[in-house]
Amino acid sequence: MINFDQEKQLFHLKNKMFSYVIELVRGKYLLHRYWGHALREYRDAAALQAIDRGFSPQPAAYENERTFSLDVLPQEYPAFGHGDFRIPAYQVRWANGTGVSELFYKSHRIFAGKPALQGLPASYAAASEAETLEIELADTQGRMQVFLLYTVFADAAVLVRSTRIVNSGKESFQLLQAASMSLDFSDADFERISLYGGHAKERSITRRPVVRGIETTASARGASSHQHSPFLALVRPDAAEERGEAYGFSLVYSGNFAMQTEVDQFDTTRVTAGINAFNFNWLLMPGDSFQTPEVVMAYSAQGLNGMSQAFHGFYREHLLRGKYKKALRPILVNNWEATYFDFDEKKIDEIAACAAELGIELMVLDDGWFGKRNDDNSSLGDWIVNKKKLPRGIEGLAEKVHGRGMKFGLWFEPEMVSEDSELYRAHPDWILHVPDYAPSFSRHQLVLDLSRPDVCGYIVDAVSKVLSSAPIDYVKWDMNRHITEAGSQLLPPERQAEVPHRYMLGLYDVLERITSRFPEVLFESCSGGGGRFDAGMLYYMPQTWASDNTDAICRLKIQYGTSLVFPAITMGAHVSVTPNHQVGRLTPLQTRAFAAMSGDFGYELDICCMSDMEKEAVKKHIELYKRIRPTVQLGSFRRLKSPFTGNDTAWTFTSRDGREVVVMYFRELAEPCAPVSVLRLAGLEEEASYRVASYYSPERMSHDFGGEARNTLEGRSFYGDELMYSGLTIEKIDADFAAYLWILEKEDEQ
Ligand code: DGJ
Repeated sequence: MINFDQEKQLFHLKNKMFSYVIELVRGKYLLHRYWGHALREYRDAAALQAIDRGFSPQPAAYENERTFSLDVLPQEYPAFGHGDFRIPAYQVRWANGTGVSELFYKSHRIFAGKPALQGLPASYAAASEAETLEIELADTQGRMQVFLLYTVFADAAVLVRSTRIVNSGKESFQLLQAASMSLDFSDADFERISLYGGHAKERSITRRPVVRGIETTASARGASSHQHSPFLALVRPDAAEERGEAYGFSLVYSGNFAMQTEVDQFDTTRVTAGINAFNFNWLLMPGDSFQTPEVVMAYSAQGLNGMSQAFHGFYREHLLRGKYKKALRPILVNNWEATYFDFDEKKIDEIAACAAELGIELMVLDDGWFGKRNDDNSSLGDWIVNKKKLPRGIEGLAEKVHGRGMKFGLWFEPEMVSEDSELYRAHPDWILHVPDYAPSFSRHQLVLDLSRPDVCGYIVDAVSKVLSSAPIDYVKWDMNRHITEAGSQLLPPERQAEVPHRYMLGLYDVLERITSRFPEVLFESCSGGGGRFDAGMLYYMPQTWASDNTDAICRLKIQYGTSLVFPAITMGAHVSVTPNHQVGRLTPLQTRAFAAMSGDFGYELDICCMSDMEKEAVKKHIELYKRIRPTVQLGSFRRLKSPFTGNDTAWTFTSRDGREVVVMYFRELAEPCAPVSVLRLAGLEEEASYRVASYYSPERMSHDFGGEARNTLEGRSFYGDELMYSGLTIEKIDADFAAYLWILEKEDEQ
């Protein structure tokens, strides 16, 4: 998979899906030469041209060679200060105050497998599944070494990169910036896709042409954030879901990040990704090293669906871990929108009883079970059960729920502390804070200083104590504010700008310790919904609550955007009441169910308050989900119609063996003179015959909670080519928020 051609000085990293080529020039410089469709051999047909460009400087050794300038060369890990004026990959401040460095190639090695990254979440592979190239660069003054890591996996259209920087000198220096990767495309014929959002509006898709100058997608909020996801794609202007080239970049990190593109004067495009350099400064003592997070780079010649499938397959195989890596996720009911803080053991048990009868498998008790927490003003940090609400403790409740044949889950927000808590009164110094300025509040809470080992130890002990005290099968790990006053009492002044990253390292350590101590527990991460939905968190917790917004119509966009990077098995999605608590919308129960069935399905309402007719419908939805769950959670996902560009949303799930295809279609608003819609499917086998095994017609608000079949196609068979090129007619329904579902079964060849 990785080959170094000594004669041509070319590294060719490849598998069946892509090639990536690096050239070693003059024995010193690492130039980026190609990334894209797999090539049998790279012979440099797209040779670089030596052109004398005005105002493009020469390194001292090449003073008389005016066509040689770092300013115009495509590079793998560019420095600032010797003539390349684009975004550098890293920046240092030496002890003498200057910031110029010069990195030359020193050595490389190629080895089987993929190394773990110290203290950081990272993709993994067996020695037979991957190959890694490590290139060592050394500063010409001996002050630092930089190790660039590239891993190619046999089964994935992704390349994984990260960087380690070592102080190999005699004096300390400051690292002001350290990208995980940088690369230069030779042109700028790209559109840039990023995922912006906000609380309850995560991961909306923006797509627009790259522009000259620098564009940044970043977070400085101490979390990957609702506002911007640590993801970026560059796609060819003609790229659509099923065609065209797409290059995706996804950071395996949950803290402050920056992903940048720069189009220069010659229309080349540089991409960098890594920890946000803003407010970052890491002191490296002699012998110390700094490991960047890794970035997963996906290439697709089959459009955005190809890119997403590369990410989905890769994250499922090489990032998720533990018992639930490939296990089907339980259908849950969560009491948050049912009761908020107002519950007791009787109420939770009542919900569990109703839920168990309908086939729900897991009862999750959300916020409010500890300390004296009856609203969001107090008690975070005091992880001791509130006996007024739960007189027999968590154990008593968990056992009762188990007695009903269900699993039991519990909510925590371990990184936080309320001002009104025993923990804060005992340890006011344990919060992130700076001298002289009072800490800011958000949801009345403060952030614990996870850069401190003692604080991390407290969290591990407090959470472990509860988890060992009762039969708890699931944990929802929440985080409900962003970080302000990011200072730590234990660190010296010169290390205060290390706090945001040290916080992440502390959190990762806590998560590693807790999840490995409780390997049977299913962990779901959450940050006010999907505020930390990133690959870093998924390494420890294999699913994420996608959004606090449970409205089915909003969810279509949120889940569609999320699916650019993450597979359905990672997305928590629940049915809630109407009018919806976030946007007040009324939607049919079936529409809410189908939207939620597109991820890890669950309910978030008081099941006991539903009418008998609704309960019957819920029972059917649960049966349906249990039937399609392996296909949704373990199969492959394809987007067909985008809610960002029209009134309709459609997607499909195909089982691993290709025998079952679940098609979902949602129409937002009914329209007068509505066009007749025909949905063209994708990803089927052209010559295979598919039987329409089941069809669920949309339900209107006022009646029929059954999704009664009215479509004459049910029971009929069609070849894949017809379904893909001619399409499937969408039954006309005069109702808003309509949801349709088909199950197609591939027939055996005659
Ligand atoms: C935010 C989460 O996203 C909600 O689901 C709920 O758990 C609340 N926090 C509880 O405070």
